[in-house]
Amino acid sequence: MRIVAGSDHAGLALKDHLVARLRAQGHEVTDVGTTTAASCDYPDYAVAVGHAVAEGQAERGLLVCGTGQGMAMTANRIPGIRAAVVADTFSARSTRAHNDANVLCLGQRVVGAGLAEDIVDAFLSVPFEGGRHAGRVAKMMGNEGGKP
Ligand code: RB5
Repeated sequence: MRIVAGSDHAGLALKDHLVARLRAQGHEVTDVGTTTAASCDYPDYAVAVGHAVAEGQAERGLLVCGTGQGMAMTANRIPGIRAAVVADTFSARSTRAHNDANVLCLGQRVVGAGLAEDIVDAFLSVPFEGGRHAGRVAKMMGNEGGKP
């Protein structure tokens, strides 16, 4: 799968760990940074990853910051992006199956590397169920920038 990954300084170690693991599994991973421990701004990486997914350069995005929250808030402002903050495997499976999430946001200060690996595995392997969920996702995406 083509995956685009990014982090700020607070997510660097986990992002680098997961990128290396994904590449070892055979995925085609583009790493947009950051690459150093220097303090930086998470929106820069969320925007880069979000646009890459929205424009079809990658099927899935992976974003890591301290909590995952700022990454998701930023990425979800980009049309076509459904970014989910996930800290457990049930939510990872559900947000793929029910929400067709296309960007996974993790918090390095929240989850350990082992749990993060399981979350990524679930996020990449579980398909969107469609059916009754398809109409709900379409309703969600049709409402970008609007009111219910
Ligand atoms: C950086 O200190 C931290 O605010 C950032 O990584 C992220 O957690 C924001 O949502």
